[in-house]
Amino acid sequence: MNNMSKVWCLGLSVVVLTLIAASFVLGADAQSSAGAAVLPVGKTIQIKAPLGLPPVPIPADNPPTEDTIALGRRLYYDPQLSVDGTISCASCHAPQFAFSDKNQVSFGVGKKTGNRHAPTVINSAYNALQFWDGRAPSLEEQAKGPMANPVEMAHSLDGVVKRLQADPKYVALFKQAWGTEQINIDLAAKSIASFERTVIAGDSPFDRFYYGHDKKALSPAAQRGLKIFTDPKKANCEVCHTIGKTSALLTDNKFHNLGIGADTRGHLNDVGRFSQTKKDEDMGSFKTPTLRNLAHREPYMHDGSFPTVKDALAHYIGGGNMNDHLDKQIHALDFLTFDERDDLLQFLDSLNGKLPDNVGPPPDLVAAPTTTKASIK
Ligand code: HEC
Ligand code: HEC
Repeated sequence: MNNMSKVWCLGLSVVVLTLIAASFVLGADAQSSAGAAVLPVGKTIQIKAPLGLPPVPIPADNPPTEDTIALGRRLYYDPQLSVDGTISCASCHAPQFAFSDKNQVSFGVGKKTGNRHAPTVINSAYNALQFWDGRAPSLEEQAKGPMANPVEMAHSLDGVVKRLQADPKYVALFKQAWGTEQINIDLAAKSIASFERTVIAGDSPFDRFYYGHDKKALSPAAQRGLKIFTDPKKANCEVCHTIGKTSALLTDNKFHNLGIGADTRGHLNDVGRFSQTKKDEDMGSFKTPTLRNLAHREPYMHDGSFPTVKDALAHYIGGGNMNDHLDKQIHALDFLTFDERDDLLQFLDSLNGKLPDNVGPPPDLVAAPTTTKASIK
């Protein structure tokens, strides 16, 4: 079993366990159990993984079809999912910002803010757990979170269903995708998750060099940067931002404490993964994000505290912020020469890959206003 399938199996068992636990606790309300049983009516399609990425993990109860993906894409870009019709998923995970947010923390309905930066949706299909603290076991479960979150879309799940059910266009689209006119939140979440599984980026200059054996795909500087990135005696970034034999997620899908958000006394302002596990070793640790497509998704880290990749690198050079739970793999890298630091940045820049063409807003749905005024040239 390779690492990816191990991670996926782990993810799956977490999903299964969570589903069992959820039905136990909630007494399995009729609507959600109905949703869990329904399968799409259309032909299952293969989502083709680009060079450098493993096959996209697909849950058994949600095989993607052309119609569920198209429906999910519409829901993703539709501000009608929010209580006042102003905020869509794309408001905080915008295609022009690499499916992330230009703002340090996102603005939801009524300009309310949370305290974490919106991570990219790109390649979230491969995450063993979703959110910085891993509190959602799957994309399906994750998608319901923001709709009901008071500082995000501020709706209720029932409210979303009522809104969609009142729109004849959605009734027809659900019928086409799921064979039922009875909309429920699980079918909406499954559709969004299937769309998200198509938002994947590989085939970067790094992939063409490393997996495609095109020696010209990487500049000499980026090639040196790759060595520094993986060398245990140099930057050793690869210990957490994984590069495999046949594919690279650039994340180990685990949680680590880099001291992001710690003050000078080592006090942490966000407990991170600890909130889910209550284990001391998880205090202040956050999920390792992928380093693919870093361009345009600044600011970085769970609190969006670094405006540039260079700032993020400087944090590692300095050995992270001291606190009682700092990861053992984090130590000062001040021995790296300035040339080596530049090479590392060149390598990180080579991880930008192209997204599929059809992941933007559906042509007949006006793009949701993003919460940000910044624009890229
Ligand atoms: C108001 C801004 C906002 C809106 C609207 C929003 N999100 Fe998010 N999203 C966030 C933030 C912030 C996080 C990280 C929260 C955390 O980790 O605690 C997040 C996390 C995620 C993640 C987890 C990614 C990862 O790497 O763990 C996914 C996937 C995601 N959102 C998809 C969606 C979808 C789908 C919708 C629409 C149904 C949506 N988001 C709506 C701000 C938003
Ligand atoms: C001990 C594991 C570990 C090591 C080693 C490591 N990282 Fe990270 N990296 C993480 C985690 C965890 C985060 C998110 C931390 C947070 O937000 O609190 C992260 C975040 C980042 C980010 C921000 C990405 C985003 O989406 O916000 C960049 C850039 C980055 N790392 C680059 C590097 C580089 C370059 C190196 C080597 C010098 C490196 N990392 C070494 C675990 C690690």
